[in-house]
Amino acid sequence: RPVLKVGVLGSGTVGTQVVRLLGEQAEEFAARSGARLEVTGIAVRDLAAPRDPAVPRELLTDDATAVATSNDIVIELIGGIEPARTLILAAFRAGASVITGNKALIAAHGPELYAAAAAADVDFYYEAAVAGAIPVVYALRESMAGDRVTSVLGIVNGTTNYILDEMSTKGLSFEDALATAQELGYAEADPTADVDGLDAAAKAAIIASLAFHTRVGIDDVLVEGIRSITAEDIREAHASGCELKLLAIAQRVALDDAAEGVSVRVHPALVPADHPLASVHGAFNAVLVEAESAGRLMFYGKGAGGAPTASAVLSDVVAAAAHRVNGGQAPRESSYADLPVLGPEAA
Ligand code: HSE
Repeated sequence: RPVLKVGVLGSGTVGTQVVRLLGEQAEEFAARSGARLEVTGIAVRDLAAPRDPAVPRELLTDDATAVATSNDIVIELIGGIEPARTLILAAFRAGASVITGNKALIAAHGPELYAAAAAADVDFYYEAAVAGAIPVVYALRESMAGDRVTSVLGIVNGTTNYILDEMSTKGLSFEDALATAQELGYAEADPTADVDGLDAAAKAAIIASLAFHTRVGIDDVLVEGIRSITAEDIREAHASGCELKLLAIAQRVALDDAAEGVSVRVHPALVPADHPLASVHGAFNAVLVEAESAGRLMFYGKGAGGAPTASAVLSDVVAAAAHRVNGGQAPRESSYADLPVLGPEAA
């Protein structure tokens, strides 16, 4: 079998799992992808930081550019906009297929990244960017390509779902529920991106881009987080037979002139207790897709965490590797229809 060189940028929880599984299950990955996948370098910021023993020390380097430009497949797990954007663009220019879980980067610079992948004629995959282990990117990008999606409703942030669920089932205040989420490691020390809806908004932008074959960026998404939700709000929701959930909502909408547009928003919403999204508890994610021919589809599972996110990253690695061995490619942005996107004020 041919050997494909794999470079990993970042070695946090997800990167560690990815490297561990590529090592432990090397035979299976070779059989599934058609190539032996050899990790040649893992770029980290601090070489001296303590590491999981699953990460071979001899592969660690602080030269991220070298890792980005000297491999067949580059896995970006640094997060944030820079240096991730520059490194991914360098990887494309060097002819690498790129896999990332970086929702913030795609929601801000998706079209630039797609164009760079197309120019280099390589794959760009990002299953881990939306809802962790749940294959919602593949579903919207490929499985639903024969249908017209009319709406996507999602619980795509596990931290806020955990907080709202604790408030709903235990009567906790927002502050106490947030503290528990932080103790359990769901919420970061700075929980802003989760609690203020920004993480969900980035995922909503990606979902809407894929569902409606158009370009939706994070600035197109109306965003309201859960910081101001009180125990009283939850009691009122219960009194009206509902649960309060932070929903990502992407819809095809009719415009004045009978044309269609796309509306994307993230906000706390009253969900009737018998609705499938009302019974999504804890830190789980769920995505409900409505399409003209398929009807209703529901996806449910773990939206965060090292192992579930590594599952999504590794599925992309197998697809990209198989394409490099056998030909074929990930869908390209040329399929985009550019439906008008309503701005946040109109959403
Ligand atoms: N912090 C996110 C969540 C996981 O709580 O769902 C990564 O996107």
